[in-house]
Amino acid sequence: MRLAVIGTGYVGLVSGVCFAELGHEVVCVDLDAEKIDKLRRREVPFYEPGLKELIEVNSAAERLTFTTDLTAAVQRSDIVILAVGTPSLPSGEANLSYIKKAAEEIGRALNGYKIVVTKSTVPVGTNEAVSRIIAQHASYSFDIASVPEFLREGTAIRDTMAPDRIVIGTLSDRVRQTLTELHAPLTANILITDIRSAEMIKYASNAFLATKISFINEISNICEKVGADITRVAEGMGYDKRIGSSFLQAGIGYGGSCFPKDTQALIQLAGNVQHDFKLLKSVVEVNREQRMKVIIKLEQLLGELQGRTIAVWGLSFKPNTDDVREAPSLDIIGELIVRGAIVRAYDPIAADNFRRMIGTDAVAYCGSAIEAAEGADAICLLTEWPEFKELDLRQAGAAMKSRVMIDGRNVYTQEQLESAGYQSYSVGRAAHTQYEANLEQDTNRIDLIHIVS
Ligand code: UDX
Repeated sequence: MRLAVIGTGYVGLVSGVCFAELGHEVVCVDLDAEKIDKLRRREVPFYEPGLKELIEVNSAAERLTFTTDLTAAVQRSDIVILAVGTPSLPSGEANLSYIKKAAEEIGRALNGYKIVVTKSTVPVGTNEAVSRIIAQHASYSFDIASVPEFLREGTAIRDTMAPDRIVIGTLSDRVRQTLTELHAPLTANILITDIRSAEMIKYASNAFLATKISFINEISNICEKVGADITRVAEGMGYDKRIGSSFLQAGIGYGGSCFPKDTQALIQLAGNVQHDFKLLKSVVEVNREQRMKVIIKLEQLLGELQGRTIAVWGLSFKPNTDDVREAPSLDIIGELIVRGAIVRAYDPIAADNFRRMIGTDAVAYCGSAIEAAEGADAICLLTEWPEFKELDLRQAGAAMKSRVMIDGRNVYTQEQLESAGYQSYSVGRAAHTQYEANLEQDTNRIDLIHIVS
């Protein structure tokens, strides 16, 4: 099939490349001429494992091309995939201006029947609005479908080529048949549903995953106080198939381009229909507070942070990406700077993006984790890059002024940290001494419980 993909952000570019890999003829469109030039030279605008190789292979096979000419791309295609961004407005609502503008242009460009597929994450009802806009400008018939995208950064190719499910929102038999055929080489559960439900599935899925993360983070906060170990607790919960083991990794909370934006958009969407989504509001609040635990724990261990040197390991919102959008590191480093700390940061690939995003030169960027640790009063590990796991903690400690570690992602065991001489904080694991102190205080109450029971 011949496809035009509008928007070469994460979703658009990965989808376009993967459809080309499945044998379809794909042209990817973007307004940004510089980006299109780079893609033609087979340079990838962001880091995503495996993407460059697929761009090279499919461009060479002439199944994948890049253009700024939306009209020409639409006119040579059977299916038009809308994958432009829907960033947050200050109110938290999704900004639909890009999608509306693209719909107008698609309408004008139509030169025969096409199927227009929305892959951008859009509030319920948006596809119908898109359909009305296209119809206002088009002289040909078309159908619209919602096919939300569930890929994760860092594993985007695998997620697209081996998805858990494909959701196709349409009530047209013709569209159902064509889109089922389009995805045919993939072995996945295909759910055919109405357009509004498809739109909601995407928001509900992201909101649920964010809820799992905030839930386990709240449990981790209690674990610290009662002397339980969150890793074991999550493991024990995860064996229950109804709960599942994924997304139960406690830490300093979620970031990225989707969860923060989509949870806010769903809260707004609910508010627009007079529903106060209290649960999701708490999820967002827990996530905000969880980041600040790094600062609270640092202050508990070091006292005032003014003039202290803090090494930050990891800037991206998660490993295997150079994306720092809504990354916990932005808030945490921002707070460190406000408190007068000297920040020495290291990330394997995200430092340039971080520097652009934070807009201050108050951070010293280092070439390695060990270099960042030089002269530091403490290390804050914010992203669980695999190389941190392999690192020689003693060597890092030897370079530091004092061996203090805030392990925000529970990369190390307490034994590893203790044997390398660190005073440390890990998420959801009480220091033994603190637990025993709590227990001491609680002895009377526990005795009472025994007597009563
Ligand atoms: C997410 C969804 O997973 C994906 O389906 C959707 O299409 C886009 O949004 P992504 O933002 O790429 O994908 O990353 P994901 O792997 O989901 O992680 C999001 C954030 O949650 C990261 O900051 C990560 O560190 C955090 N996280 C994830 C946890 O803190 N604990 C976990 O157990 C899992």
